[in-house]
Amino acid sequence: MERKETSINELEAAKQLNIITELKARFDQEFEKTGKKKTYHIETFGCQMNSRDSEKISGILKQIGYEETDTEDADFVLFNTCTVRENANNRVYGRLGYLGKLKKSNPDMIIAVCGCMMQEASAVEKIKTSYRFIDIIFGTHNIFKLAELLQIRLDSKRMVIDLWKDTELIVENLPNDRKYSFKAGVNIMYGCNNFCSYCIVPYVRGRERSRNAQDIIDEIKAFAEDGVVEIMLLGQNVNSYGKTLEEPITFANLLQKIEGIDGIERIRFMTSHPKDLSDELIEVMKNSKKICNHLHLPLQSGSSRLLKIMNRRYTKESYLELVSKIRKAMPNISLTTDIIVGFPGETEEDFKETLDVVNKVGYDSAFTFIYSKRTGTPAATMEGQVEETVAKERFDRLLKAIQAGSAKAAGKDEHTIQKVLVEEINAQDSSLLTGRLSNNLLVHFPGDQSLIGKIVDVYLEESKGFYYMGKLINS
Ligand code: SAH
Ligand code: SF4
Ligand code: F3S
Repeated sequence: MERKETSINELEAAKQLNIITELKARFDQEFEKTGKKKTYHIETFGCQMNSRDSEKISGILKQIGYEETDTEDADFVLFNTCTVRENANNRVYGRLGYLGKLKKSNPDMIIAVCGCMMQEASAVEKIKTSYRFIDIIFGTHNIFKLAELLQIRLDSKRMVIDLWKDTELIVENLPNDRKYSFKAGVNIMYGCNNFCSYCIVPYVRGRERSRNAQDIIDEIKAFAEDGVVEIMLLGQNVNSYGKTLEEPITFANLLQKIEGIDGIERIRFMTSHPKDLSDELIEVMKNSKKICNHLHLPLQSGSSRLLKIMNRRYTKESYLELVSKIRKAMPNISLTTDIIVGFPGETEEDFKETLDVVNKVGYDSAFTFIYSKRTGTPAATMEGQVEETVAKERFDRLLKAIQAGSAKAAGKDEHTIQKVLVEEINAQDSSLLTGRLSNNLLVHFPGDQSLIGKIVDVYLEESKGFYYMGKLINS
C-alpha cells in the first residue's frame, strides 16, 4: 500500500515538474519578445499552514519565471484563504471586490483563489456567481497542481475549478520558496482528525496524514545546508505525528532525530493538543539543547463541562496537572494558549472556570477569540448560542486576565544575557535590530544588519512588557 502511494506521489511530482518546464519555456519566449518579466502577488490569510502553502505556491511560480511583487497590481494575484472564523471570510470577499476593479484596467491579469475557504461549497458557489472574474479556484489538497491549472487557464481562457474533498497524496520534492533565509516552516503532518465541535479545520484540511520521517529529515538537512538555523514543525496536532505511518514513530522520537541535524540550532513546533502530550515529549524537551523554551498549549475553555461538549477530550483538572508536570520539568518555560469565549451554552460559571485557569497558569501570551459559528460543525446547531454583547464583555474580561498574567511573566529574564536569533531591521527605528528569544519574545537592540540570520548574545537591559530592549554582547 505504502509503496503504491509513493510511486503515485513520484509520478505526480514528475508530471508537475514537466509542466513547470513547459511553462518556463513559454514564459522565456514571451520575455524575449516583451522584455518584461511577469509578476505575481500572494495574499495569505490564516495560520502557519497557509503561510507554508504560500511558500510552495511561490516556489512553483518563481520556477516558471514569475517575479514576486508586494502589490496586488500584478499579472497573477493569488488569495490563499482561511475560513476558521466568519470574519476571515468577510475580509477575503472585501479584497476580492477590489481586485475586480483592478482587473478591469488590466484584463490579462489572472486571479486565483485557493486555501481553506475554497473547500467549502457555499464559498465556491458565491465566487462562481458574484465574482465571475476569478480565473482559477483550487483547494488545500492540490496546491502541487498549480502549474497544471495555470496551463489549462492560459490555454482555455475559462474559469478553472479543481477541488478535492480529501487526499492521501503527499507530493514531495516540488520547488518551494522561503520567506526567510534563516528560518523555515516544515510540515510534518497534514489534516486533522480531532473534530473539536466548533472547528472547521478537519472539514477543509481533510484527514490526518503524517509525512515520512526520512522525507522530513531530508528537507530539514537541505534547509540547514542552505543557511536555515531555526525550524518550525507544523501540524494541527503534532503530538499525534507518526501514529498512522507504516512504521509508526512518535513525535518525541522525530524531535530526537531532528536534534541531530548539524546547523539547526532551534526547533519550534505547533500545535500541541493537550490530550496527546506525552511524558516522553516532556522528557525529550527537557533534555534537548535545541528545542525552544516555549510551548503553545491551547486551552479553548477552562470549563470541564464545555470542554466535553467541545470534544477536546481533557478536563480542567487534567490540563492543570499537565501544566504543572511541564513546569516541574522545565521551570522557566514560556506557555502560550488559544481561548474561545462565547461557545454555545457558555454560562458565567463556565467562563469563570476559564478565568481561573488563566490566573493559575499565568500565560506569557494568548490568542483569544470570540466563538464564530461555522456551518457544518456540530456546534453551529447547538442550543444556547451566546449573545454578542455577552461574549464581547467576557472577551474584554479575559483580555485583562491574560494581560495581568503576561505582565508578570514578561520581564523575568530582565538583566540576563540570552541567545537571540536576529530576524530583521526594526521597522520603526532602522538603527535597531529585532530578534527573537528562545521563548519567542522579541528583543530590539542596536546592531548591524549583517547580523540578520545569526544567533547572538544580547543583554536584556529593560523589559517593556511584550518585548525587551537589549544590548549586543560581543563574544
Ligand atoms: N489545531 C490547533 C488550532 C487550529 S485553529 C489546535 O487544536 O489548537 C486556531 C484556533 O482558532 C483554535 O485553537 C481556536 O482557539 C480558534 N478557533 C477554531 N475554531 C473557532 C471558531 N469556530 N470560533 C472561534 N475560534 C475558533
Ligand atoms: Fe480544530 Fe481541534 Fe483540529 Fe485544532 S485539533 S484543528 S481546534 S479540530
Ligand atoms: Fe485558517 Fe485553514 Fe489555518 S481555516 S486557521 S488557514 S488551517
